[in-house]
Amino acid sequence: MTLDAKYETGVVWQDFQHKQLIDLFKQVKEARKNKKDQNLYRYTIAFLAMYVNHHFKLEEQYMEKYEYPDKENHMKEHQGFIKELKLFRLDNFDYSEQGSDDLVKRMRNWILDHILGDDKSLGQYILAVEKNQEGTTPPQES
Ligand SMILES: [Fe+2]
Ligand SMILES: [Fe+2]
Repeated sequence: MTLDAKYETGVVWQDFQHKQLIDLFKQVKEARKNKKDQNLYRYTIAFLAMYVNHHFKLEEQYMEKYEYPDKENHMKEHQGFIKELKLFRLDNFDYSEQGSDDLVKRMRNWILDHILGDDKSLGQYILAVEKNQEGTTPPQES
């Protein structure tokens, strides 16, 4: 599990989940190598969609709880990605090399860009708030 240090936000759960997400793209690449394994491909895409939803929700809970000023914009970015991923899954239920490449390149790059921009800003904000409010309870996962 490796992710270049420049992608680290400094928030432990956020960094952990970002690494997990990038690992899922690696699994899609693996599934491409083993073309016979249609199930691995489908399972990985389904898991990726589930994990992305979970991850975005958690970030949004923090934005809500800590009254993050750029919340609306950040949430719009998340919604845009979820929509794209849904469309991708409709068009790519069955494995294809092209679909697999598209997912790995386009969506992985989207996530990496998102981490470098929006998520790093959010991470800095979370760290600053938590530094000022030591001892408060973070949002609970629902
Ligand atoms: Fe994120
Ligand atoms: Fe985000």
